[in-house]
Amino acid sequence: MTLPPDAVSDLSIAADAAQAVNPWVALAYLASGVLFILALRGLSNPATSRRGNRFGMAGMLIAVVTTLITHDIAGLPEILAAIAIGGAIGFVIARRIAMTAMPQLVAAFHSLVGLAAVLVAAAALLNPGAFGILGLDGNILVVSRVEMALGAAIGAITFSGSVIAFAKLNGNMSGAPILLPARHAINLGTLVAILGMTAAYALAPNAGPGEGWLFWAIVAAAFVIGFLLIIPIGGADMPVVVSMLNSYSGWAAAAMGFTLHNTAMIVTGALVGSSGAILSYIMCRAMNRSFISVIAGGFGADAAAAGGEPKEQRPYKQGSAADAAFMLEQAEKVIIIPGYGMAVAQAQHALREMADMLKEKGVEVKYAIHPVAGRMPGHMNVLLAEANVPYDEVFELEDINSEFATADVAFVIGANDVVNPAAKTDKSSPIYGMPVFDVDKAKQVFFIKRSMGGVGYAGVDNDVFYMDQTMMLLADAKKMVEEIVKALD
Ligand code: TAP
Repeated sequence: MTLPPDAVSDLSIAADAAQAVNPWVALAYLASGVLFILALRGLSNPATSRRGNRFGMAGMLIAVVTTLITHDIAGLPEILAAIAIGGAIGFVIARRIAMTAMPQLVAAFHSLVGLAAVLVAAAALLNPGAFGILGLDGNILVVSRVEMALGAAIGAITFSGSVIAFAKLNGNMSGAPILLPARHAINLGTLVAILGMTAAYALAPNAGPGEGWLFWAIVAAAFVIGFLLIIPIGGADMPVVVSMLNSYSGWAAAAMGFTLHNTAMIVTGALVGSSGAILSYIMCRAMNRSFISVIAGGFGADAAAAGGEPKEQRPYKQGSAADAAFMLEQAEKVIIIPGYGMAVAQAQHALREMADMLKEKGVEVKYAIHPVAGRMPGHMNVLLAEANVPYDEVFELEDINSEFATADVAFVIGANDVVNPAAKTDKSSPIYGMPVFDVDKAKQVFFIKRSMGGVGYAGVDNDVFYMDQTMMLLADAKKMVEEIVKALD
């Protein structure tokens, strides 16, 4: 297409202006980038996580204010109204959300980030002059076309993938893997088609404002592939997927940062993208899942992992709160292993009270946290921190596992898979290879769960229930611990 000479020179000026870097803006964006890095550093430890959050908020405030005051904003009232509405919705959700529903909330948020990337790319397509990406020939610059296509594609994958992840985690659809025949060939073909269309769009002779059926075809294919990549993934792998989609959303934002010539967005997107990828990798290792199989969408997905098998009845010992209190008082060293059931029961406050009483009686109390205990990274740390459990009593798997041999009581509260020795011995078990706590080495094991029928996430029985030194405390975790506290009094 050709444009009148005036329009061409206006547009090239706009493009030049967009490329120019104001040193104060660069400095402000640098400051926000540093604050985001400090935020990530702070969030890696429960003791510093609140400070990390504040760094992140300050970084975002600087980035948003800098962008608003250094751009010719056409609709400031609309932007402020949108921030107020979004902020109010976020505030209410954050206050109301149950910790156990956090993974699906995070998935829902990621879907919005993905959709935002698609919408920014679409806006750039429809009005490239406003984004300073129109070349002198009246076409969108080639490099911007690549950024828009890739950003929109990653955003669309993030959107549809996150919607499916939300539906699976929230129980709106079955968490079981849905395995289409020839799915790997379909996925690979669609990905190749997206890359091919991106190249074709980059080289298209006519790519002016709004001219981009290829762009929309890329977005449509990416929506489909996001859906296809996530449906074969089983429930147990879903949090890894959520963290991987988090990573995708970061890369989509980074790509849009290039289109918008916004350094803060590029840096933030890259930080989110790389930290999400690293977290996915760490979670895969802790759950003994192959990273490639998760991101490839159900390679080697094991349907057995999602469902339980009928179990034979085996003899076990059951005790009461009074029995547990009596033996805990006699102990010298107690290691508490919290799991998902503690979160369901919200037993952390009662648990801290119990630990305080034991410490007053001279018992050494430690907490052992498995990297995938609960249903999201740091789940147990957050709950224990909420109950003001001192950080120096909380230990990671590799730091405490050798201590079970010297513990009088391993107090398992609502955990199951993370203490299941089948992970070490049974090659057919879906959790085989996952590092687990050696609770069976403790002199006594107390197990709080609601019934013998209930299973953990992986849906498998646990031999520790039936060992000689194990006492099953069958009740809701909070109720049982409150009764132990009464009995200790
Ligand atoms: P699980 O193996 O899921 O076991 C939870 C236990 O809590 C069950 O034995 C259940 O038995 C009991 N329980 C549930 N509600 C309870 C309540 N109100 N009171 C008392 N007990 C209750 O938990 P875990 O050991 O924490 O293991 C986590 C699992 O989730 C692992 O398989 C892990 O791979 C998976 N996972 C974790 C993550 C992250 S990042 N944390 C992500 C994805 C998957 P009853 O029903 O009989 O009460």
